[in-house]
Amino acid sequence: MTHTLQCSVCVAAALAIGAGADRLSSQAPEPAQVVRTAVRATTLDALTPVTSWAKAAPGIWRATAGNASREIRYTSLAAELPRLDALRAKPDHAFPFASDPIAFERTADGKTVVRVPCAAGEKLFGFGLQLDGLDRNQGVFTLNVDHWSTGGGRTHAPVPFYVSSRGYGVFIDTARFIKVYARVGNRKDSPRNPPPVDRNPPPGDPAPRWDSQPDADAVEILVDGPGADIVVIAGATIADVVSRYNLFNGGGALPPLWGLGFWHRVHAAADADRVRREVAEFEARRIPLDVIGLEPGWMTKSYPCTFEWQKKRFPDPPAFVAELLSRGIRLNLWENPYVSPESRLYKTMFPLSASHMVWLGLVPDYTLPEARRALIGQHAQDHVGIGVSGYKIDEVDGFDVWLWPDHASFPSGTPAPAMRQAYGLLMQDLVFKGLFKARNQRTYGLVRASNGAASGYPFAIYSDAYDLKEYITGMSASGFAGVLWTPEIRSARDEHDWIDRMQVVAFSALAQLNAWASGATPWHFEDATGMVRETLELRMRLLPYFYTAFAAYHFDGVPPIRPMAFEDAALGHVADQFMFGPSILVAPFYGKGGWSREVLLPAGKWYDFYTGEFVGDGGRVTRQSDTGRIPLLVREGAVVPMLKEPVANTARAYGQALEVRHYGTTPGVFDLFEDDGRTFDYERGRYRTRRLSVEAGEGGRFSLKEMVVKDAAPPMFGRSELRVMTR
Ligand code: GAL
Repeated sequence: MTHTLQCSVCVAAALAIGAGADRLSSQAPEPAQVVRTAVRATTLDALTPVTSWAKAAPGIWRATAGNASREIRYTSLAAELPRLDALRAKPDHAFPFASDPIAFERTADGKTVVRVPCAAGEKLFGFGLQLDGLDRNQGVFTLNVDHWSTGGGRTHAPVPFYVSSRGYGVFIDTARFIKVYARVGNRKDSPRNPPPVDRNPPPGDPAPRWDSQPDADAVEILVDGPGADIVVIAGATIADVVSRYNLFNGGGALPPLWGLGFWHRVHAAADADRVRREVAEFEARRIPLDVIGLEPGWMTKSYPCTFEWQKKRFPDPPAFVAELLSRGIRLNLWENPYVSPESRLYKTMFPLSASHMVWLGLVPDYTLPEARRALIGQHAQDHVGIGVSGYKIDEVDGFDVWLWPDHASFPSGTPAPAMRQAYGLLMQDLVFKGLFKARNQRTYGLVRASNGAASGYPFAIYSDAYDLKEYITGMSASGFAGVLWTPEIRSARDEHDWIDRMQVVAFSALAQLNAWASGATPWHFEDATGMVRETLELRMRLLPYFYTAFAAYHFDGVPPIRPMAFEDAALGHVADQFMFGPSILVAPFYGKGGWSREVLLPAGKWYDFYTGEFVGDGGRVTRQSDTGRIPLLVREGAVVPMLKEPVANTARAYGQALEVRHYGTTPGVFDLFEDDGRTFDYERGRYRTRRLSVEAGEGGRFSLKEMVVKDAAPPMFGRSELRVMTR
């Protein structure tokens, strides 16, 4: 089977030149006649089945469609090598496309289309960080890096990976623009097309429902290049498939413990004194704080950037950073990658940058080692070397009118669209490996664009879109895409909205108030401050539980924030609730409906987090609150280790006593992960696992048994004490 088969029936068409052409046009040059001969087969047979599947690990296969020899693969930009040890410990599965093969074709204009069969009734999820819902069963998605708002697939992390309820996932491992036709586009000779329906039947005839998008039997993926690598992943459940995808890409990121505390980004014009005053007020008001983020004003020039300290605002950067560190506060610096003519990097970067600029700043080609070395050297000297803990990498997404055009040229010869797809990854790679991993120091930060194979990077994606419902959808969508997401809070229309947003962010991968424009502080709405403090203190108390959920991301590939599809594929479309770690279901309030909402429970018994009361056994329940306290539900038998007392900073979490909560009526176990919380020594086995088992004894009374099952690091938290929540 080839894709250049000669068709036996010639369907040559000639465009006749209008007979009634007037005199004027008859004097014009003769238009060329369009007469063509059929040269391509247009049947399914014309597609070439992909046969060269190489097994990479249990349940994971890789093959190439077309010619991908010069393509950039996302997996080559991953933070870590595939976690083969963890993958090999998993059971094998049959190749999902053995009887109905994946096939490909070169399009007439030199692109590649990959056709992945899809059976009726399969539910599809993924295609990146899409904020407009989770159900991806049918639609056309343009997977280009862009700032969210255009929809239709363009987003901050347009990861070309999707997962099916049938227990497989497909990852197109190439940094090319991609357009997905998910069950859209019926092939004329497919045996599984639905029958056509007469939309305008004569009177008296049955009138079945006419469908404007008749279901097609495949996901067809148009790759804007000559070929692509395809990775197929099979697993027992949706969660298993996603975790294998993450492990294949090096496992999930484990942030330092401080990264899970509360972050406050000050106003863009704030100076050192204003930062000091705000930090002091956090302390006085007993609001948790771990990280201060500086916005553009910390630089001498920004948009484009110098990456050099603005001495009028920060006269003594080393002393300022040291002072904050001595109070347990880390510093995170905003930047975008575009180099100002005023930067001392400009001259070096000029020949190493693209033909076009962004905001009149150079766009360095970070596939070049010289360009990487230059930025790493300057950042190490001016920032990391004096104690800066990480970065917020802004503006690596779009819009088109801001970034370089698709025809820009880069010195490495990398096509501009591929550079756009990969730029966020290149920046994460540079910062993570070049500045932090190299010194065995963990970092955590923010980035506004990411893509495939990104799970190992300790960066959370954020957006300017600011629609609360979309932000909540992002909590689940990120879990399908191997990325972390923060629905950061900036401002609010009223106190009610403030409480809702603050609580959503408190249950996210990175809890941050971004006051770069608003100048707001957590006590912005004075009357809401009590609820804000309570929520942030709860986040701090949940550190042992949540940090272990991140360890599971690293070791097992299971994301810390999980979509409902991980519990039950039938709830996969539910975008306004999610799992925080293994046992806590979060159902945020949002919109104008007041503090009351419905929650869809996965099968099994669920209990109220705050009181331990039984709430329901599957099905639909209503939760409401007078104060706006976010509904949290805990599964049967769950063991939730928390700090006994809240702490205002993660440094004070070390050594704290634990309250081990138990919910429901059946015994349960939690393996608590502990390490130093700041280096990569855990990768060399230097960590500790405390098995907390809640067992039922005489008369159904529960007791807590603790066993250290791995003892290769000192304990992180103190002694544990059982709290039985359900009586
Ligand atoms: C935006 C970014 C904001 C803030 C601002 C500063 O692009 O999304 O979070 O950093 O720039 O100018």
